[in-house]
Amino acid sequence: MTANVIHTENVYRIYSSAAGLTPALCGVSLDVGRGEFLAIMGPSGSGKSTLMNILGCLDRPTSGTYLLEGLDVSKLTDDDLAHVRSTRLGFVFQSFNLLPRATVLRNVMLPLVYTRAGVRNRELRAWKALLEVGLPEELYDHRSNELSGGQMQRVAIARALVNDPALILADEPTGNLDSATGELVMRTFRRMQGQGKTIVLITHDASVAGWADRVMHIRDGRLLTEEQEHAYVTALEARERTGNGGEEAPQEAIA
Ligand SMILES: Nc1ncnc2c1ncn2[C@@H]1O[C@H](COP(=O)(O)OP(=O)(O)OP(=O)(O)O)[C@@H](O)[C@H]1O
Ligand SMILES: [Mg+2]
Repeated sequence: MTANVIHTENVYRIYSSAAGLTPALCGVSLDVGRGEFLAIMGPSGSGKSTLMNILGCLDRPTSGTYLLEGLDVSKLTDDDLAHVRSTRLGFVFQSFNLLPRATVLRNVMLPLVYTRAGVRNRELRAWKALLEVGLPEELYDHRSNELSGGQMQRVAIARALVNDPALILADEPTGNLDSATGELVMRTFRRMQGQGKTIVLITHDASVAGWADRVMHIRDGRLLTEEQEHAYVTALEARERTGNGGEEAPQEAIA
């Protein structure tokens, strides 16, 4: 199959609440090929989590198309979306989200409860995923709350990998780690990419984004290339220097 892992076309997500309508994504068109490692950067409130929720099949676009490995997920039922999540996607979060009292191995086996594989087979697959992320074997029967932050995040990456997903989504995976440990985690992502995994990672940190093959930016729900982001920032700085409409975003830089 040659389809991109991610293909979105003109995706909008407009939240409706008592306060009114909030357009959080405004015409996002994005293609991510198999084996690609993409980082997305953007300020608070720019739409990063909204985009991740849609790419992660936790939410649907208000309008527009999202094909995941060629499958149109915009129109699936909640049950079908849950199935897509458990078979095609792996998630890595800032706060690791491990079960603290369960062992490392159990944590990694968790996504496999939805498969029909027996316990022995699940243990072997979890073991293999843990070896892939480079976690020392003597830790596999430790409780996850006995590990360091960097070790916990590598367990979380192993858990994201264990189903052999098409796509790994990571939301600020180094946000709770010091920079040396963050680097170790980024090396692990690079290694996964070297094995053909597709990774989309959100970060505030340019040095973290630098580990990806491609960096995109998001502002006010619109995706920008590196060049567009540069033009945006330059225009913003020029406005600030002249004191001309400092509050307003320089839309012409995006358009
Ligand atoms: N459930 C919701 N209902 C209404 N508005 C929402 C909802 N979720 C997010 N928003 C709004 O949508 C916009 C984008 O929010 P989003 O959470 O995607 O930003 P973000 O880039 O992830 O920010 P942060 O870096 O702070 O996590 C914001 O203006 C936010 O207030
Ligand atoms: Mg967010």
